[in-house]
Parts: sequence; C-alpha cells; structure tokens
Amino acid sequence: GKTYEHLLVSSPKPGVGFIQLNRPKALNALCTPLILELNSALRDFQTDKSIGAIVLTGSDRAFAAGADIKEMKDLTFSAAYGNDFIESWSDLVTFLKKPLITAVNGYALGGGCELAMMGDIMYAGPKAVFGQPEIKLGVIPGAGGSQRLTKAIGKARAMETILTGDNISAKQAGEWGLVAKVFETPEECTNGAIATAEKIASYSQIAVKAAKEAVNKSQDLGIREGVEFERRVFHGLFGSKDQKIGMAAFAEKKSPEWSNE
Ligand code: CAA
Repeated sequence: GKTYEHLLVSSPKPGVGFIQLNRPKALNALCTPLILELNSALRDFQTDKSIGAIVLTGSDRAFAAGADIKEMKDLTFSAAYGNDFIESWSDLVTFLKKPLITAVNGYALGGGCELAMMGDIMYAGPKAVFGQPEIKLGVIPGAGGSQRLTKAIGKARAMETILTGDNISAKQAGEWGLVAKVFETPEECTNGAIATAEKIASYSQIAVKAAKEAVNKSQDLGIREGVEFERRVFHGLFGSKDQKIGMAAFAEKKSPEWSNE
C-alpha cells in the first residue's frame, strides 16, 4: 500500500481497515496535509472490496488535539471562506459508506472531538478527554461539533461544553452516550474497536451498507419519513442475493457464505 507522512495504515484482521493518526509531536493536530492523507486512506478502504469496516485511532496520549492552531492562526476571513477552509473534512463522512469506528485514547479536542464524532461508533479508553475548547481561542467549532455533539448528548450538555470549553471525561462520555463503550486500558479500546470491525466485516456488505444508511437517516428525517425510508430499504434488500443466502442458511442450520451481492 501507500506510505503516509502522518498516518499508519494496515489491515490487522480480515476485512478490517486500520488507520492510526501519527503526528506525535503535535498531539495529532489535524493539519491540512494530514486531513488530505486521511481522505486518501479512507477512500482506498472504501473502494477495496476486501474491507468491510474501518477503525480510526490516535495514540495513547492523543486521538487528536484539534485542528492545527498554528496553521490557521493568521488565516483571514476571505481566505477561510474563499477557499472553503475545513470543507475537505466534511467529505470524510459523506463519501464513506462503510462503517467507521473511532477508538479514542487521550485528547479528542476541538476538531479531534469532531473527527471522532464523524465515526459511526465511538469507543473510549479510560483516559479519553473530549471537548470543544474553540471558545477559548475566540472561535467556535468548525467541523460539525455544535451539531453532532448536540445530537449526541442533548442541548443542555452540549451548550455547557461548547460555551465553557470544559472537557468531558471518558466516564462522563460513557454515561452521556457520546461513546458506545468505555474500556479499561487503551489497548482494550483499540482491540475492542478492531474486534467490532471484524464482526461487522463478517456480514453482508450490502446489508451493512443499508443498515448504516438507515440509521444515519434518523439524524436528518422526522420519525415518519425515517420509518418509511427504512421500510423501502428493507423491502429493497429482498432483491439482494445475500438476503436469500442469509435466510436459507438459517433454515438449513448452516453459516452463510456472503456474496456481497
Ligand atoms: N494545533 C497545533 N499544535 C498543537 C495543537 C493544536 N491544536 N495541540 C497541541 N499542539 C502542539 C503544541 O503546540 C506542542 O507543540 P510544541 O512542542 O512545538 O510546543 C505539542 O503539540 C504538545 O502540546 P502541549 O505542550 O501543549 O502538551 P500538553 O500536554 O501540555 O497539553 C493539550 C495538551 C491540553 C491538548 C494542549 O496541547 C492544548 O490545549 N491543545 C490545543 C487544544 C485546542 O484548543 N483544540 C482546538 C483547536 S481549534 C479547532 O479544532 C477548530 C475546529 O473546530 C475545526
């Protein structure tokens, strides 16, 4: 595969794509070259048919300490607006149809918290620290934090977090449902994410894609349209080979051999 300056990319288990942010000197601050590399690595996993799910993690000390403050400190309004600063981040979630699990150890602040929340499932290690400290820099979250954090933990808690810039501990993130699970060690967090990705990758990619799409629709649609959307997609899956394979295998007490068709 490709080699990257700021990422380590591998496939530790069958069907699992693994990306580790690797810019230790800046606590994985998300400079533009890093984001472009991340885009490229995710796109490669998206098109690789052997990959069913992806894990994104950082180091034990930092998932990512935010957008790169030194890179943006002299940015003007017209440069930010004119060149769609941060726009390349939004791409990450819109093109990625395969599940992304973010495994957070250490700091996930500002853009780091926002990147972690772009994952479909978030796991945390015991020393994970979440927060949107942009207010302390004279700005606000710029990669979806005000929207995703509010959807994840509710308005009162998100408002408090964003207006004070105070951090959220791993324990608190678990209790508030920001993360799906809190693990006892950083290794367990990363390995837990890989195990979950391996499990997801063992299912029909068609069904997994449809499931992710349907759950994501709940973030944009009202309950009525959302349930209707789900029903259409559910009906549609009866046109897939894997529905026949999965249900026939159950009836014959065998394990299914997915065709991904
Ligand atoms: N951008 C650029 N460099 C960063 C950085 C960032 N977001 N976060 C840390 N670094 C750099 C530090 O400047 C330092 O570099 P030097 O050794 O060259 O001085 C190195 O990483 C290590 O950091 P610290 O010495 O500060 O480490 P610490 O353990 O004392 O503190 C920390 C850790 C509390 C996370 C602290 O680094 C910090 O507060 N970082 C900034 C967090 C932040 O404000 N993030 C939001 C950024 S704005 C944003 O993300 C906008 C958006 O919504 C898209």
